[in-house]
Amino acid sequence: MSEPLIIDCDPGQDDAVALLVALAARERFDLLGVCTVGGNVPLDLTTTNALKVLELAGRTDVPVFAGCQNPLMRPLVTAEYVMGNDGLAGAELPPPRTAPAATHAVQFLVETLRQAERPVTIATLGPLTNLALALAMDPSIRRGIGRTVMMGGTMHRGNIVPQAEYNIYVDPHAARIVLNAGLDPVLIGLDVTHQVVNTIARIEAIAGIGTRAATAVARMFLPHARIQEGLPPDAKPRGLMHDPCVLAWLLRPELFGGRRVHVGVETDSEVTLGATVVDWWGVTKREPNATVLKEIDVEGFFALVSESLARLP
Ligand code: BDR
Ligand code: CA
Repeated sequence: MSEPLIIDCDPGQDDAVALLVALAARERFDLLGVCTVGGNVPLDLTTTNALKVLELAGRTDVPVFAGCQNPLMRPLVTAEYVMGNDGLAGAELPPPRTAPAATHAVQFLVETLRQAERPVTIATLGPLTNLALALAMDPSIRRGIGRTVMMGGTMHRGNIVPQAEYNIYVDPHAARIVLNAGLDPVLIGLDVTHQVVNTIARIEAIAGIGTRAATAVARMFLPHARIQEGLPPDAKPRGLMHDPCVLAWLLRPELFGGRRVHVGVETDSEVTLGATVVDWWGVTKREPNATVLKEIDVEGFFALVSESLARLP
């Protein structure tokens, strides 16, 4: 039986790849909907981009629900400097022929999870605003949620500020709500995603697949790979496929290693705002609230992405 799945995202180049990996696993996932949130680019663009990616994959049957424009308490911080002004630089996708559903993403989450007959897997690829608001509107929706897996956090260096990963930093209050909701999520942060470096050879191999999905992905990531190969070894990696790691974990968890731990999120101090405080050694004796992943089989990951892109139009 296929696994009911909702993806909450802010496409975003790497979100787009994650959506494509999910769409390629058609027999595995029953994709109930794609929710969008303001993040990498403003909400109108993340929503348009989700529609474009579904159309690229020939899956306009999957509904898109536009969600929150802004984080709960803070102004939105976008990431055009990585993703380009439209969020999907290089993909060159035509304007979508479809429109988002009339229902707000938070309403969709609440209604779907309230009525769920089977546990629904939630995959989050952006700031956690939609899921936090849904949990605030109706905490009982937890009963409808099966597995929760999120791209977010870092145990070491940040990518948007020194101390924090982008998705958590943009809406730290939402991240704290979600982490404290008893969902026991799996967190895939920069400790994992900074290992999946885009080499020119890897992206050229994707270009060689020849499907239109693979071509769009290669067009988005080849410029990053070219810059990456000119960087010194300890530089911040460039334009990574963070979000597809979430789908890779759902499809092939054996590619990853991690540990159940307690994770706190800093929401008060400006200096350390959005930091994910991971008690890896259990020094606080606090009850674990998440599983934080640290290891990934990088070749296995790229093989999965390539196999997925080969299965799409
Ligand atoms: C995360 O931030 C976004 O820019 C990416 O899409 C990814 O979800 C990486 O920190
Ligand atoms: Ca994202």
